[in-house]
Amino acid sequence: MAFKLGQSLSAREIIDLVHDDLQRVEREINLESVASVDVVTTISRYLQNGGGKRLRPILLLLSSRLAGRFNDASIRLAAVVEMIHAATLVHDDVIDTAKTRRGRPSSNAIWGNHTCVLAGDWLYMQAFQVALRERNFHVLDLLIALTQMMVEGELLQLERIGKIDISEADYMQLVDRKTASLFSACARLGAMTGGADEATEARLGEFAWNLGIAFQLIDDILDFTSHEKVLGKPVGSDLREGKVTLPLVYALESASAEERQCVGRVLKDGNYDHSPFSNILGMIERRRGFERVRERAQSFTDKARAIITEFPESPYQRSMAALTDLVTHRDY
Ligand code: IPE
Ligand code: IPE
Ligand code: MG
Ligand code: MG
Repeated sequence: MAFKLGQSLSAREIIDLVHDDLQRVEREINLESVASVDVVTTISRYLQNGGGKRLRPILLLLSSRLAGRFNDASIRLAAVVEMIHAATLVHDDVIDTAKTRRGRPSSNAIWGNHTCVLAGDWLYMQAFQVALRERNFHVLDLLIALTQMMVEGELLQLERIGKIDISEADYMQLVDRKTASLFSACARLGAMTGGADEATEARLGEFAWNLGIAFQLIDDILDFTSHEKVLGKPVGSDLREGKVTLPLVYALESASAEERQCVGRVLKDGNYDHSPFSNILGMIERRRGFERVRERAQSFTDKARAIITEFPESPYQRSMAALTDLVTHRDY
């Protein structure tokens, strides 16, 4: 019952609440995306205008508003986390040899791998440059540990490319590093700049961590079930790229030898030419893979919700509760 209030808030209302703050964040990103070599500026702008959801800055802003002492540092750090996110996407698309991102050619498809690796490096460093201006070691400590975590996540993912025997624990370890750690850092940074005490910061971090795990679980379902037009990237990419994600991990637990072979074939070929995507999709459905991942995601959003309901009621608190619904019910 306590959840009712949160559910009445829509995406629109959440956005309205942080709309002005977000506009300032966009200006900050814009201002900080200028390099002395034009191509970096061009790539940064291209990324910024690509229509990302801005979930991470929103999380930071809401967390900071909730903590109570919202100030300019929250705006700057919201820009920092989006820049870090953009940098990881640039590198990720190089690693995954992705062709599409946010419904447009990915940056590597336009400017090539070499330039994009360097542009990603530049973006990371620029994000740190902006963060450094806070003269706050706690902020830097958190951001550096976070970035290393995310890189470790990508490295672990690389080690597991093409492997069919991935356990749920392997998968969770990856998701923790590559996605939940950034969500958690956003909430913590917001809490920090908003003047929260350490316990509150940790609690908001935990809220966001759970939200982040749920977000990635849903992302991995959408990779199979969505449509390219909605998702902004081709469906079935994860498996084509050699990644066995949770819907498949679950499905494989009860799959027949033949079904397993079909999955193995895609991993080997890197395409669906001899093992059609529709077969894989049908197999995951039959084996209740999506259903089980949805339930699992729900358990994380429930946890996140339980944490956020501990906080005094306010529009910001309700918005954060509503975010948990948005994450589980989104289609892109
Ligand atoms: C993409 O994140 C990377 C993942 C963690 C799956 P988002 O889906 O938040 O990306 P944008 O910023 O909205 O494009
Ligand atoms: C996204 O990882 C990058 C990070 C979260 C660091 P993925 O490769 O799983 O995400 P998409 O599918 O390219 O967005
Ligand atoms: Mg990728
Ligand atoms: Mg993915």
